[in-house]
Amino acid sequence: MVPQIVQSIKSIDELASFCKRAGFVFPSFEIYGGLSGFFDYGPRGVELKNNIKAAWWKAMVHDREDVVGIDAVTVNHPKMWEASGHVSSFTDPLVDCKNCKARFRADQLVKDVLDSDVSGMPLDEITALLKAKNVRCQKCKGEFTDARKYNLMFKTHVGPIESDENVAYLRPETAQLIYLNFKLVQDSARLKLPFGIAQIGRAYRNEIAPRDFLFRVREFEQMEMQYFIRPGDNKKFFEQWKKERLKWYLSLGIKKQNLRFRPHKKEELAHYAKQAIDIEYKFPWGWGEIEGIHDRGNWDLTQHSKFSGKDLSYFDEETKSRVIPNVIEVSAGVDRTFLAFVIDAYATEKERIVLRLHQKLAPVKVAVFPLSKKEKKITKLAREIFKTLKEKFVCYYEESGNIGKSYRRMDEIGTPFCITVDFDSPKKKDVTVRDRNTMKQKRVKVTELTKYLEKLLQ
Ligand code: ATP
Ligand code: GLY
Repeated sequence: MVPQIVQSIKSIDELASFCKRAGFVFPSFEIYGGLSGFFDYGPRGVELKNNIKAAWWKAMVHDREDVVGIDAVTVNHPKMWEASGHVSSFTDPLVDCKNCKARFRADQLVKDVLDSDVSGMPLDEITALLKAKNVRCQKCKGEFTDARKYNLMFKTHVGPIESDENVAYLRPETAQLIYLNFKLVQDSARLKLPFGIAQIGRAYRNEIAPRDFLFRVREFEQMEMQYFIRPGDNKKFFEQWKKERLKWYLSLGIKKQNLRFRPHKKEELAHYAKQAIDIEYKFPWGWGEIEGIHDRGNWDLTQHSKFSGKDLSYFDEETKSRVIPNVIEVSAGVDRTFLAFVIDAYATEKERIVLRLHQKLAPVKVAVFPLSKKEKKITKLAREIFKTLKEKFVCYYEESGNIGKSYRRMDEIGTPFCITVDFDSPKKKDVTVRDRNTMKQKRVKVTELTKYLEKLLQ
């Protein structure tokens, strides 16, 4: 037997062109030349993305008694971002080329040119390092300005007057409105510590240098859960959530060797974090963060109490005392997770590209093909089967006339099963069911199809 050639994705370009061709992800505004850091999800991509979000929501909300969800607005009050520290501290270090005026994210520049991690390093030290190592503009070899702070939040105005009083910000994280709604949620859902509030939604960051396809974009989605705990329980729940979150990726098929934890150094901790660890995925271009787990202490609730003048403490019935709850946050990016799932599932074999996606994530679960488009008996039966199965599974129907090509297209988008209605089917009342992974086919009675597939897809 000829051994199959199995190869994973080698480059970001290969990945981006595959995603475009197969209908997963398109560059936004392509006919106008594109806009850096923006991507649209196509017909296959939106299904995969929705499935990722649904799997997260099930694991984090529906399967738990201690977590509830909310869905809050994305244009946000400026006071909230002052209180949270984002107006002053949600920044990246920026340098300009004195000659051509190109702008670079200074820590990224050091990483690219000097292969050194300077996240969290003070601005004057970054400036000194760039000078000492004679790092020059990557476009024109010009000299750089000193490094300075650059705020990543998108600013806008609410109402018809564009004045400083009407400034609002597009949220760069979903977390803040969870803190602001903390009391209302706790009261209405009758929650007792420890409990969590989850949210999935869009976030916006005006990144200096979007790169690596969906990895660093300017508009993306986050899946975040803030777990409110008694002060002092931080370590216990931080460890618990680390385990839970790693388990989630593994349960959806990501290979263990492609995931790791990376603790943050003290200097790189976000302004709100007392402790943080990233879950990283081994991308073709190196390890990269897909989720952050943060111990935010009582930073956010304390700040919002201070700035709003409203008491956001919690009366603990057990100890009969008022406390400001502490928060353990899990914050995953939908888009980076999407990339990890696609890359992990992707393989080039001798005669096909196949996405071995977990069946829960596959955009289409079952495809139905009549072997001939001309034989009425065959197409009629195929349509009947499609009609029945689509009540239970996301199905796809195609009269292509070239079954080999149809199978390949389904392999590429990760469809676990293909059903073919052939010349024997109308008489024998059975069809073939082809398994994506093994490419083996099995004849199954039409009357038993739903049960058969339900068992395999549950
Ligand atoms: P990085 O250091 O890579 O900029 P970060 O530490 O700023 O990431 P967090 O602020 O912890 O990221 O955000 C939580 C999650 O949101 C990340 O793990 C990531 O999945 C996602 N995320 C953050 N920024 C982006 C972005 N620009 N594009 C896509 N996803 C993002
Ligand atoms: N909410 C955490 C973050 O986006 O960084």
